Amino acid sequence: AHALKIGIAGLGTVGASLARILNGRHNKLADICGRPIEIVAVSARDPDKDRGVDLSGATFYADPVALAREADIDVFVELIGGEGDPALSAVREALSRGCHAVTANKALLARHGVELAGIAEEKGVLLNFEAAVAGGIPVIKAMRESLTGNSITRVFGILNGTCNYILTEMERCGLSFEDCLKEAQRLGYAEADPTFDVEGNDTAHKLALLTSLAFGTRIAPDDIYLEGISNITIEDIRAAADLGFRIKLLGVAQRTDSGIEQRVHPTMVPKDSVIAQVDGVTNAVAIDADVLGELMMSGPGAGGDATASAVMGDIADIAKARPGHQHGPVLGRPAVHLETYERAR
Ligand code: HSE
Repeated sequence: AHALKIGIAGLGTVGASLARILNGRHNKLADICGRPIEIVAVSARDPDKDRGVDLSGATFYADPVALAREADIDVFVELIGGEGDPALSAVREALSRGCHAVTANKALLARHGVELAGIAEEKGVLLNFEAAVAGGIPVIKAMRESLTGNSITRVFGILNGTCNYILTEMERCGLSFEDCLKEAQRLGYAEADPTFDVEGNDTAHKLALLTSLAFGTRIAPDDIYLEGISNITIEDIRAAADLGFRIKLLGVAQRTDSGIEQRVHPTMVPKDSVIAQVDGVTNAVAIDADVLGELMMSGPGAGGDATASAVMGDIADIAKARPGHQHGPVLGRPAVHLETYERAR
């Protein structure tokens, strides 16, 4: 079978890790997917940086939009980040010319997922985004495929590794919020602008995607009640601990009498609950499904390897897919139109 040709836009922590997986496991992946997967084009800000991986066989583009428009590729992998350009134009460009796209970009999808999924659907190509929510946890696959026979009543979880790392380290080591954030940045967990992590926006982007998939509603990040963790002090954490609680930043979406409620805020959870045990950069997603019951998944939620693991799975799915195949419902094509949204703010 002919090779699946991919172009990777963005060679930061995730892009470099993905390239290492693709190069280092080339034969195994070819076996599993039934065809080799080749990196034929890349784009990054700095062409010469040492990323610990040989990309000399790939054509280098300075501009990701040019890569998306011109490179001879089957799959465009967007690992640039950011809700606008160049990520938006690049993905739009790739899908419009009939390339499949894989993205880890939750901000982009929360804002433009409906448009992008629409282009993909029209062109008969796939837009895969497992890595956009909860890093390496296969929650998008669960929602779109495994839970198809269920009706979901609630989904909630710890969706930001940086915040959970900060809250965990503040409690464990008594370090200040600022010091913990710096360490999370050093470890490659935080967003380019860490305000998005600590003020809850990143969690809200991810929750908006989960809500849309869980309930068949539109993607509505601005309808989410939002409160981050930047005001949480060590004293708050200790006071909660004295009462038998831990503080976690949760994203919650649930069915209520008046519609679908979505919220993101620091939450006191009982110390002996499962969610309270989720430490460090680990994320967790809990789903209440009517047939299955309560499902809980936890695992690495941020960082190069965890995210690249999910991106790799998305690429492998494309390598194996029959033409015209869709992995479950198209993002942002509402099956349910809800009139009422409960707005906490
Ligand atoms: N900054 C994000 C986090 C990266 O800390 O969870 C993964 O989306």
